[in-house]
Amino acid sequence: MRLDIQTKDFSYPVCIGNLEQITHASKVLVVSDSIVAPLHLNTLLSKLKAPHIFTHMISSGEEHKTWQGIEGILESAFQANLSRKDLMLALGGGVVSDMVGFASAIYKRGIAFQIVPTTLLAQVDASVGGKTGINNKYGKNLIGAFHPPRAVHIDPLFLTTLPKREFKAGMAEMVKKAVCFDKDYFKWLESHPLEQHLELGIYKSVAIKASVVAQDEKEEGLRRGLNYGHTFAHAIEKAGAYSTHLHGEAVAIGMQMANALALKLGLLEQATQERIQALLKTYGLDLPYHIADFESFYKDLQMDKKNTKGICFILPKGLGAFVAREDMDKSTLKEALHAWL
Ligand SMILES: NC(=O)c1ccc[n+]([C@@H]2O[C@H](COP(=O)([O-])OP(=O)(O)OC[C@H]3O[C@@H](n4cnc5c(N)ncnc54)[C@H](O)[C@@H]3O)[C@@H](O)[C@H]2O)c1
Ligand SMILES: [Zn+2]
Repeated sequence: MRLDIQTKDFSYPVCIGNLEQITHASKVLVVSDSIVAPLHLNTLLSKLKAPHIFTHMISSGEEHKTWQGIEGILESAFQANLSRKDLMLALGGGVVSDMVGFASAIYKRGIAFQIVPTTLLAQVDASVGGKTGINNKYGKNLIGAFHPPRAVHIDPLFLTTLPKREFKAGMAEMVKKAVCFDKDYFKWLESHPLEQHLELGIYKSVAIKASVVAQDEKEEGLRRGLNYGHTFAHAIEKAGAYSTHLHGEAVAIGMQMANALALKLGLLEQATQERIQALLKTYGLDLPYHIADFESFYKDLQMDKKNTKGICFILPKGLGAFVAREDMDKSTLKEALHAWL
């Protein structure tokens, strides 16, 4: 299966199915992480045809999505003396693709990169759309660039080695898209156990993102819906120093928080809220959370990069639609979040 991501400025293919040969006429720097490389680097290298292939390893995990990690990738790129004709190739989850995307965006003012995503989350979400970046002490993904890949190669076979917890976390991004953009996909997820319909489930999810990104690449309107649950999620991840919750887990909790707020504002009916909760529960994503310190949680919400006037909350309006609200006062928010305080 193949989808084409088409924006005003870019177009690139997303291939879904058995990994096909990747050919490049000049040098390729393959970047992977310390968990993925021992499992899958050889498979990738067996499919890669290029005159010169270099490899670079980063440490696995969100806490390594840092400047230091970027400097390491750039160092390998300079050592290999990559030119603007050359290619970086990310093999791994969203951490690897976000970092390789950013490193390739700034290396010699930008060279091409491609992605072979190996987590469900990266296959259905992080690898498509051109957002790249890293975290710093002020928060998540606060440094980065729009830099679309030249191609994305999604092979669900890579997911056979993915820990169950990581797989479930990837589901959160699928539910996110269903709630904000596509009621039929939501119903499909309710009635089709993903493990048995993996390739089609991934395809449908990527197709939604492709359509959203095509209409709004730079996040001026429609694309904001992809941030449903994320304002809260980023604060949750930061509060846990990026090591207590997986990104998808934090998004799942964040969606429930957004739902509570939407319910309070009359945007969402209780029955719909319960339906979303039930779907999350099916995938083990109905997770408990306690906001240890509301004031510092609130401060972290204020750091979110979507904010312009106030904290930007993406709130579902029934199934298949959303609104972005920046007019929430602190006390309304606190009341809506009482279940987590
Ligand atoms: N750019 C975007 O549009 C976008 C969208 C969503 C998420 N993201 C980013 O993606 C990141 C999360 O991505 P993720 O969940 O893929 O995290 P990740 O890259 O940290 O991967 C999760 C873990 O699984 C391991 N792993 C990866 N593939 C494996 C495999 N096939 N078998 C066994 N282990 C494997 C990794 O080493 C890591 O320990 C976050 O930093 C988030 O901000 C970006
Ligand atoms: Zn996300």
